[in-house]
Amino acid sequence: MTPRRPTAVPSRAPACVGRDAGASAGARASARGRGLATAMCEHSQAIARSLGYKAMQFNFVASSNEAAIKLWNKLGFASVGRLPKAFNHPARGYVDALVLYKWLET
Ligand SMILES: CC(C)(COP(=O)(O)OP(=O)(O)OC[C@H]1O[C@@H](n2cnc3c(N)ncnc32)[C@H](O)[C@@H]1OP(=O)(O)O)[C@@H](O)C(=O)NCCC(=O)NCCS
Repeated sequence: MTPRRPTAVPSRAPACVGRDAGASAGARASARGRGLATAMCEHSQAIARSLGYKAMQFNFVASSNEAAIKLWNKLGFASVGRLPKAFNHPARGYVDALVLYKWLET
């Protein structure tokens, strides 16, 4: 039987399925702006590469989440898809969600 690939690696790091590794990250409000999400994302990419994944994506990033989009863009993730009005923001109502994607091989 073929060994199963991990479906999850350390907390807040990628859940890995198929060719792409999916990512999610968050930093406690009191700890933001100190590079934690950057470190988690870069660590996740290193793990994904070491496991043979070719690409990584954030499946669902609310378009209202300017901080996250700016950060993921800075780390090389490009917007490749948009789900119209997919997220019901508590203050802004329905906003689009983005798929952000990065090819990991250099
Ligand atoms: C988005 C988030 C993960 C950033 O975490 P962090 O540890 O503060 O981020 P870092 O310190 O590693 O990176 C800072 C960079 O993030 C971006 N950023 C962070 N806060 C920002 C803000 N309020 N507005 C714009 N950009 C912001 C900037 O690119 C910033 O770099 P700069 O200061 O050079 O411009 C954090 O705000 C968070 O946990 N938010 C709630 C959960 C969430 O939205 N997760 C992402 C789901 S896709």
